[in-house]
Amino acid sequence: MNQAELSASFFQQYFADEDLEKQSERLLKGFANNSDAQVQIIDPSGRLLQDSTGLPGDNIMMNFIDVQEAIKGHPGIWNGEAPSTQEAILAVSYPLKANDSIVGEVRFITSLTETISTINQITVLLICVGMLVIAIVTILGLVLSWTITRSIKDLKQAADQMTEGNFSIRVHKRYRDELGTLADTLNMMASRISKSEQLKNDFISSVSHEIRTPLTSIKGWIITLKSNGVNNQPLLHDGLDIIESESDRLTRMVDELLDFSKLDNGRITIRYASVDLTELIQRIVRQLAPRAARQGISLEIQTGEALPTIQADENRLKQVLINLIDNSIKFTSPSGRILVHAYTAPSKVVITVEDTGSGITEEDLNNVLLKFYKGDQHASGSGLGLAISEQIIKLHHGELRITSTIGKGTIVQIDLPV
Ligand SMILES: Nc1ncnc2c1ncn2[C@@H]1O[C@H](COP(=O)(O)OP(=O)(O)OP(=O)(O)O)[C@@H](O)[C@H]1O
Ligand SMILES: [Mg+2]
Repeated sequence: MNQAELSASFFQQYFADEDLEKQSERLLKGFANNSDAQVQIIDPSGRLLQDSTGLPGDNIMMNFIDVQEAIKGHPGIWNGEAPSTQEAILAVSYPLKANDSIVGEVRFITSLTETISTINQITVLLICVGMLVIAIVTILGLVLSWTITRSIKDLKQAADQMTEGNFSIRVHKRYRDELGTLADTLNMMASRISKSEQLKNDFISSVSHEIRTPLTSIKGWIITLKSNGVNNQPLLHDGLDIIESESDRLTRMVDELLDFSKLDNGRITIRYASVDLTELIQRIVRQLAPRAARQGISLEIQTGEALPTIQADENRLKQVLINLIDNSIKFTSPSGRILVHAYTAPSKVVITVEDTGSGITEEDLNNVLLKFYKGDQHASGSGLGLAISEQIIKLHHGELRITSTIGKGTIVQIDLPV
């Protein structure tokens, strides 16, 4: 189209005054010089005047659409098959104008064989590349989904097993991706559940044991009293005393358990009131001193300066201190010493219960605050004391810390905000 347009404007500038038919040979040479295409010059009636391939003149070209268009004054394009060779060609005709009237037209014809074969090559190439891309994407997708579904299958299998109650199962972590993290989480969950299952079982067996001991003693005394208690006043007295204290022990234990379940569910509330700590500590120590004395342990208080009155739940604090001193008495051998020390520090009151008892191993130290945890499974107690105490101190916005040296003794420190 560019070449035809250029040729037409060249003609308009330099040959407009000449007769087209006479100059056609010269014109053809000029036009064909600059082009690889076949060039034709046609007169306004559609008769072929010149052809660069030497096609004989006098052919009537009016049946080509591009020729018809150019005669009407517009550039025309046609593609189709060459009449003689059946080759695919593209023809462009451009009107040649002189003084605003159309005196003929120039027609450029080029073979499309090479273009079509290039296009075909490109098409084949694109199709190949496209299929390759589709193949790669499909393979990648399959591999990816295979790895993902494999991990998910593992997870599902493990989760199914856990639903059945098998918490010893562990998921194999295949990759360090999100599913790997999920596997870790699932494993961690399973091990926590197993641990708490274990604790629960230990707890049930220790609680049953704890309950059976006083029940055995009560039952034994009732049998004794039934057979000869009526006549023996001192025996009756002793027996009833023991039955009473054993019942108290049972009640205390049940209370503790109820308390704990409430604390654990967060259903317990702290009833704040002014508490005189010095007085409270003295009262508790007075209450527990006889028991300590029976075991040959000295129980002392050390409260230096006057302690401030604090806002706290007196009954709950009492429970904590009794728990701590009870532990100290339980784990200290005769001729040992227990010291309850209270003092003020900036914006807090510190109470420590220090004993010269057995101490706690480093491993146990990390666990003693857990519910139901006991250093020695066969020792008496439910393993709740420290867990409850810690909860209560936390509810008071305070802190409970334990330091211990095995064989030397234990210090439990409570910080309470003033
Ligand atoms: N003063 C201490 N000296 C040595 N070991 C201690 C002391 N206090 C606690 N422990 C260890 O910590 C464990 C947990 O104590 P915790 O008071 O929670 O339970 P417990 O005394 O066994 O049972 P409970 O208090 O419910 O009757 C104890 O079993 C013991 O092994
Ligand atoms: Mg205890």
